[in-house]
Amino acid sequence: MTYAVDTRAVHAGRADLAELGVHALPLDFSTTYPMHDQVAAGAALGAFADGAATAATPVYQRLYNPTTARFEQALAELEGTEAAVSFASGMAAITAVLQAACLMTDRRHVVAVRPLYGGTDHLLSIGLLGLAVTWVDQDEVAGAIRPDTGLVVVETPGNPTLGLVDITTVCIQAGDVPVLVDNTFATPVLQNPAKLGASYVVHSGTKYLGGHGDVLGGVVACAEQRAGALRQVRILTGAVLHPLAGYLLHRGLATLPLRVRAAQATAATLAVRLSVHRGISKVHYPGLPGSDPRGLVGRQMRGPGAMIAFETSGDAAAVVAALRLITPAVSLGSVDSLIEHPALLTHRLVDAEGKQTGGITPNLLRMSVGLEDPDDLWADLDQALTAAARATVSVTAPVAVPAGPATVPTSPAAVPAESAAEVMSVGGVFGADRSGAQAAMLAAPVIAVPEPEANAFGAVSATSAQAVNGSAPVPA
Ligand SMILES: Cc1ncc(COP(=O)(O)O)c(C=O)c1O
Repeated sequence: MTYAVDTRAVHAGRADLAELGVHALPLDFSTTYPMHDQVAAGAALGAFADGAATAATPVYQRLYNPTTARFEQALAELEGTEAAVSFASGMAAITAVLQAACLMTDRRHVVAVRPLYGGTDHLLSIGLLGLAVTWVDQDEVAGAIRPDTGLVVVETPGNPTLGLVDITTVCIQAGDVPVLVDNTFATPVLQNPAKLGASYVVHSGTKYLGGHGDVLGGVVACAEQRAGALRQVRILTGAVLHPLAGYLLHRGLATLPLRVRAAQATAATLAVRLSVHRGISKVHYPGLPGSDPRGLVGRQMRGPGAMIAFETSGDAAAVVAALRLITPAVSLGSVDSLIEHPALLTHRLVDAEGKQTGGITPNLLRMSVGLEDPDDLWADLDQALTAAARATVSVTAPVAVPAGPATVPTSPAAVPAESAAEVMSVGGVFGADRSGAQAAMLAAPVIAVPEPEANAFGAVSATSAQAVNGSAPVPA
């Protein structure tokens, strides 16, 4: 009998607990495992060195740990693969796949589709592992494959601009070359790339799988035939997942479907509201009309997800500085909503061409929607966008421009009273469901902000732009 994902999320990797007489997941911290029969211990070590999933004894924690093995079994069940291999972080997982698919096979060429998480992009770009990379659009994968291509790398939804890649089409183009799909943003709740032909499904478990911002980990779901090489890499590089991290990731899986769906519902609401806000020039969210030209939501993904990206009309960093509820931090998939400036942080090390291809502009913000009340989140976003716009004008208006280098004050106190006027910050469609905080914000006197098209904000985006690109402001 095949259970639904909600049932599997709760029970996966726990089938023998009742037999063991325990309810919570057993946590084993042993670094070494005693065995009087040294011949049998040696045979076990040999089996692990050959890539085995289990043996008569774990021998040593770097070879096997029962707590992390349970998490792997559970994740494999959720992704619909034979096996999963856990790692110390998402980056360790991606690195291990590159080592197994490219270095161990001596096929040292990678085809990659941008955008990718900044760390993955940087790892590939700088050639740390001695691999050559060809960056292509998702329709150009077939033409980029060479005899020495060991791996195709894609991420969907892509970090940070949430474009969707057609996994089936990419896998067909790749032919015999294995395809790695980073499934961190979608989670197994919304997408199962292995069922569409992907050979390696990677997660930064640090994000939704853990779900509470307190555990670093990574995992690769794949066929057993590929898992052996990953285990061999892990033994040699030592990039193992700590047992406590394995425990926390496994525990996080039980609530994963509930968390993802609740956050997704809020994200869909916020995306629509943001798309008509005057302080926003563009919203990236796969659930918005026109944002999914290949029709992948519903076909490939079971929903548009809980990540949103948007481009602010004014200074994006000033918007983050003005937030009071949403956590201004990198990472994603936590119970609390997180927001960050990709060009300054997660994608800082992506080269200029990569930033351009990936749409990583100085005014782009990426938000991981959490489990808070949607109206509370909206009130915070609205007040921050309004406050940033007000600060923006205080910089551009002659009366407010201080001598010296341009800075963007974010405190309302910086707004000169004599310049005050009314401004509506929200498009009409949401007028009816504004919260008290929003209504108070809208009633408060603020500086008149011209229509975004009039580009009163353009000059001020220099603050983020200067930080991203050095001293020269770049038009958004
Ligand atoms: C899509 C994606 N993949 C991989 C990673 C790397 O994961 P970790 O930070 O656990 O190494 C991240 C981190 O933000 C990510 O967003």
